[in-house]
Amino acid sequence: MKRFSAKNLHQLFCYHSSPSSSSSSSFVQASRWRSSKNNPSFKTLASFLFLIFLFVLLAFFVRHGWITTAEGEDGVKNKRSKAAGSTNNTCPAHFRWIQEDLRPWRERGITRGMVERGRRTAHFRVVIVEGRVYVEKYKGSIQTRDVFTMWGILQLARWYPKKLPDLELMFDCDDRPVVRSNGFMNAISGPPPLFRYCSDESSLDIVFPDWSFWGWGEINIKPWKMVLEDIKEGNKRTRWKDRVPLAYWKGNPQVDPSRRDLLKCNLTQQQNWDTLLYVQDWDKEAKEGYKQSNLEDQCTHRYKIYIEGWAWSVSEKYIMACDSMTLYMKPRFYDFFIRGMVPLQHFWPINDQSKCSSLKFAVQWGNNNTIQAEAIGEEGSKYLQENLKMELVYDYMYHLLNEYSKLLKFRPTVPPGAVELKPETMTGAALGLHKKFLEDSLEKSPSQTEPCDLPPHDPTVLHEFREKKLNALNKVQTWEKEYWEKQSKANNN
Ligand SMILES: *[C@@H]1O[C@H](CO)[C@@H](O)[C@H](O)[C@H]1NC(C)=O
Ligand SMILES: *[C@@H]1O[C@H](CO)[C@@H](O)[C@H](O)[C@H]1NC(C)=O
Ligand SMILES: *[C@@H]1O[C@H](CO)[C@@H](O)[C@H](O)[C@H]1NC(C)=O
Repeated sequence: MKRFSAKNLHQLFCYHSSPSSSSSSSFVQASRWRSSKNNPSFKTLASFLFLIFLFVLLAFFVRHGWITTAEGEDGVKNKRSKAAGSTNNTCPAHFRWIQEDLRPWRERGITRGMVERGRRTAHFRVVIVEGRVYVEKYKGSIQTRDVFTMWGILQLARWYPKKLPDLELMFDCDDRPVVRSNGFMNAISGPPPLFRYCSDESSLDIVFPDWSFWGWGEINIKPWKMVLEDIKEGNKRTRWKDRVPLAYWKGNPQVDPSRRDLLKCNLTQQQNWDTLLYVQDWDKEAKEGYKQSNLEDQCTHRYKIYIEGWAWSVSEKYIMACDSMTLYMKPRFYDFFIRGMVPLQHFWPINDQSKCSSLKFAVQWGNNNTIQAEAIGEEGSKYLQENLKMELVYDYMYHLLNEYSKLLKFRPTVPPGAVELKPETMTGAALGLHKKFLEDSLEKSPSQTEPCDLPPHDPTVLHEFREKKLNALNKVQTWEKEYWEKQSKANNN
């Protein structure tokens, strides 16, 4: 269909009709003209009439959204995105695990007793009733994880007003999952549904976006929406080919033995594993105002290592957003989005049992296959830029809470000790950077679009996805093994 710009329409309005013209008034005019058929200006009048007819037709089209006007643009765009949504507004791959995380409760549902049993380790209870968010706090968390997590849920309620279901849930802000699946194999009572930031293959904890999406005041990491922009800009600064062709990591090695093990791969006079490792000294950087830890300044190497800490590490998304190929040390834990990502497509898998040789092989492979290595780096960043943008973080929370609430077997009520979360009281109670980050991540207006469409639960698709990941992993391990076997043969000869 041909589109008329607003200006053209405006001209039509002004020159060929009066603003008050309606089909009935043009009928009146038409009958008047018919009586004066012999008038010499009849032709002019007839064409005038025809123009009015055209205008009415046009108005009809505009009204029904078949022709776009500037004023109607937003409305039409919404309709269009919804129409496109009916063919494809599918949520990204990691959303498929929402149903999987809730599987332990699908048959029997979630009773109040189950929720209460999560209280043992929970830092707070979240209650949502009629779109309002209440919290009953049990104990303080590490740093301000609790405050920023509550803030995130409050922002979700602002982003999707009147859309959130009534619910009660327990949130645990500590690092490691605590609900062991083998403890509930045959249990009559059923596992407690407990929300936290990560889980692992032998636990039933339900994963939820971590606090840093709204900012991490203690180490000066801005809300994710702003970090994504900064890193996008930073990535333009050094082209992949001009980056240091070595693996890079900076972090705190003291949190986990595996990280201390990684340090032995550092480049020295005696050994070269193509790897540069640096210890992050948070105390020193705090004193210097974190100038050294600007995330966008850390995208200067072709290969960036991700390694877990005591549990999953928040650093993951900052490392992966860099456009560098992420060297992903075999993890034990998963957060909510990594399960949608695939080795060799979004990152390069590293063997945690032979870290140094695995890193060196990855770097050499990348420097031999620069086009592919650059593409893996780009794909990884693209996944985050597109599928982990803040709108889709909210969509994940929305769908998870929605699916969770469908399983509740009791009516959520606000306990006497709970307080309603309010933006003013929360920002009012915060100081310094924390206050700034809360204010910066405040959702000022509701979403203009509907949440993405959650794909139906399909164990076959999940199974195929797991197979795909496993195949890629095995492929790399085989290449690596063959390479080092060839090397050692060459050295022995
Ligand atoms: C819709 O998008 C999803 C995810 O991007 C993709 O997997 C799927 O194949 C698409 N479906 C259609 C019909 O294009
Ligand atoms: C690793 O090596 C680099 C360069 O040789 C050095 O600057 C850095 O301090 C070393 N890192 C550690 C953790 O020793
Ligand atoms: C990289 O290329 C060099 C030179 O062709 C070759 O000796 C080496 O084995 C290659 N390394 C990898 C990991 O492909």
